[in-house]
Amino acid sequence: MKNILCIGAGYVGGPTMAMIAKKCPQYRVKIVDINAARIDAWNSDNLPVYEPGLQEVVESVRGKNLFFGTDIDASIKEADIIFVSVNTPTKTFGFGCGKASDLQYIEKTARSILAASDGNKIVVEKSTLPVRTAESMERILNSNQKGIHFDVVSNPEFLAEGTAITDLENPDRVLIGGHTDASGRAAVEEIAKIYANWVPRERIITTNLWSSELSKLTANAFLAQRISSVNSLSALCEKTGANIDEIAYAIGCDSRIGSKFLKASIGFGGSCFKKDILNLVYLCEHYGLPEVAEYWESVVKINEWQTTRSVKRVLRSLFNTIAGKKIAVFGFAFKANTNDTRESPAHLVVRELLDERAIPVITDYKALPDAKRDLSDVLDKVMFVEDPYEAAKDAHAILLCTEWRQFAELDWKKVYNLMSKPALIFDGRNILNGDELTKIGFEFMSIGKA
Ligand code: NAD
Ligand code: UGA
Repeated sequence: MKNILCIGAGYVGGPTMAMIAKKCPQYRVKIVDINAARIDAWNSDNLPVYEPGLQEVVESVRGKNLFFGTDIDASIKEADIIFVSVNTPTKTFGFGCGKASDLQYIEKTARSILAASDGNKIVVEKSTLPVRTAESMERILNSNQKGIHFDVVSNPEFLAEGTAITDLENPDRVLIGGHTDASGRAAVEEIAKIYANWVPRERIITTNLWSSELSKLTANAFLAQRISSVNSLSALCEKTGANIDEIAYAIGCDSRIGSKFLKASIGFGGSCFKKDILNLVYLCEHYGLPEVAEYWESVVKINEWQTTRSVKRVLRSLFNTIAGKKIAVFGFAFKANTNDTRESPAHLVVRELLDERAIPVITDYKALPDAKRDLSDVLDKVMFVEDPYEAAKDAHAILLCTEWRQFAELDWKKVYNLMSKPALIFDGRNILNGDELTKIGFEFMSIGKA
C-alpha cells in the first residue's frame, strides 16, 4: 500500500485528499497540519470547512484509509508521495509587500520534508505558487547529503469553494507538470495514476513544470477578469438603461464567449483571485513587463471600485446619511455554500458602513463565526444575527452580499413589515425579483440596472 501525505489541512488539502482516499482505497492517505485545533475538527463531527457533500465523503473513509494528525515528521518519513497544500498568502512586509506571494510556509515545509526524510519521495505542489517555485523547492530538497532524491511535480488545484466535491469528483481537467527527464516523467505518471482511478485519461493534462505553475495563476486571472469586465459594464448599464443580465445572456450565447462567469456582482471575493492576480502582477514587474502588470492589476482595481461604488449608491439613496441607522447585511461569506469569508466583499461593505457610522447587522447561514473573527476589532459596533428576519427588524436598508439561495426564498412581505420605512433593498448579487419586491413596497436597487 502506497502512502500519500498532504501537508496543510485547509480548504484544499482536506477535500482533495478526502476525495483521493475515497476513490483510491489502495492508497493510505494522511493529512497533517501545524494547527492542532483544525486537525481536531477534521477528526470530529464538526469539520472546519463547510462544503456540500464533504462530511459524507470524509465519514466514508476517515479511519479506514484517511487519517488526520499533527505528527508531521513521522508522517513525512513513511510517505511515498507528499502533497504540499499550505497557504500562500500575499506578502505583508519587505520586498514585494502587498503583491508577491509569501512563501515562508512553503519553504518551511520543504525544509521539514528534507529533515525528516530518509528515502526518495515525490513532492507535489498543490498550493498555488509563483512560476518557477519548483526550482527553489528542488534546490532545498536536493541539497541533501543523505543520498536521497526528490522529484518535484506541480499539480495545481482548480476546485471552487461551495462546489468542491462535485469539482473534485468530475474535474474539467487535472493538470500535472514535471521535468521531462526519465525521473521527472516517472513522477508525473505516478501522480497521473492516482487521478486515473476516477478521471478519464484524456482529462489528465501533462505539461512542463513552469507551464503548470503559470497555468494556475492564468486560470484565476482569466476567471476574475471576466467578472471585472462584466462589473465594469454594469456601471455603464446603470447610466444608460441597458440591463447587465440581459447583456450577459446575449453575449454568453456566443459560443466563443460562453455563458459562465458573467454574473455581475458587488465584487468577487475569496482567498485566491486577488492574491493570485497580484502575484501575477508582481511576477510581470519582476520580469520587466510593466505594461502586462498594469493590465492585470486593473482587474483587481475594478473589483474594489465595484464594491465601494455600490455602497456609495446605497448611501445616496438613503439621503446621504446613515449615521446611527441599522443597515442589514445579508450574507458575509464570499459566495454561497461556504463558511469562508476571506476577502469577502461583505467585509469591505461593513467597514464602509462603519466609516459612515451606521450600525451593520450581519446575518449569514454558515459564516457568522468567521465574520465575528474578521470583525473582532469592532464587535461593539456590529450586530450578528442568525435569523434574517431578526436582522431586518428596524433596518433602513438590506444589502444582499452573498447569493445564498435561502435569501431568494424569504417571505419578503414579512421582511418589509419588520423594516423601517422607506425600506431599501440593494441586491448585490442580482438574485432577487425586483418587480415583486417593488410591488410589496420596497425601494429596489441592483447591480447593472438603472
Ligand atoms: P488554508 O489556509 O485553508 O490551509 C492551509 C493550511 O496549511 C493551514 O491549515 C495551515 O495551518 C497549514 N500549514 C501552514 N504551514 C504549515 C506547515 N509548515 N506544516 C503543516 N501545515 C502548515 O489554505 P487553502 O485555502 O487550503 O489554500 C491552500 C493553497 O491552495 C493556497 O496556495 C491556495 O492559493 C490554493 N488554492 C486554494 C483554493 C481554495 O478554494 N481555497 C483552490 C485552489 C487552490
Ligand atoms: C476560484 C476558481 O473558480 C477556482 O477554479 C480556483 O481553484 C479557486 O478560485 C482558487 O484558486 O482558490 P472560488 O474563489 O472558490 O474559486 O469561487 P468562485 O466560484 O470562482 O467565485 C469567486 C468569487 O467570484 C465569488 O465571490 C463569486 O461570488 C464571484 N463571482 C463568480 C461573481 O461575482 N460572478 C460570477 O459570474 C462568478
